[in-house]
Amino acid sequence: MNSQKFHFIDLPRIHDPRGDLTFIEGGRHVPFHIARVYYLYNVPVDAERGGHAHRNLHQVIFAISGSFRIVVDDGRERQEFWLRDPRKGLYVGNMIWHEMDSFSQGAVAMVLASGSYDETDYIRDYDEFLQLVRKGMA
Ligand code: TYD
Repeated sequence: MNSQKFHFIDLPRIHDPRGDLTFIEGGRHVPFHIARVYYLYNVPVDAERGGHAHRNLHQVIFAISGSFRIVVDDGRERQEFWLRDPRKGLYVGNMIWHEMDSFSQGAVAMVLASGSYDETDYIRDYDEFLQLVRKGMA
């Protein structure tokens, strides 16, 4: 599996009796320029999100609150991770199929993205994704 295409990113935590504080600095903690931040919330526990890959976009996905499962697939094999620590984000590079589900009640997923929203960057058909991966490998 291509670990350069996804890996965990650890963020700092400032802990004191008033609680925890975590911060993210562009150019320091994330390996791309942060062009967009979006978050998923009010997600029903039986909902499935994602189900696509991006041609060029890079992202880092955090469970800011609660937990959820993410399955990543590079076209050769699938791997699943549980996100539940707000200090640990999963970097998901381009051309990685990803699916998210099993959101806990009240979970919030925050995503840092390398580009603006662009529907033409999405690959929403799994067979097309596999074909593109195979072409890339040829
Ligand atoms: P989508 O990326 O398919 O959601 P998810 O991967 O979380 O399941 O996006 C759902 C809808 O929201 C789709 O119509 C596109 C829109 N959208 C935006 O307009 N801007 C954004 O930044 C994102 C991420 C989605």
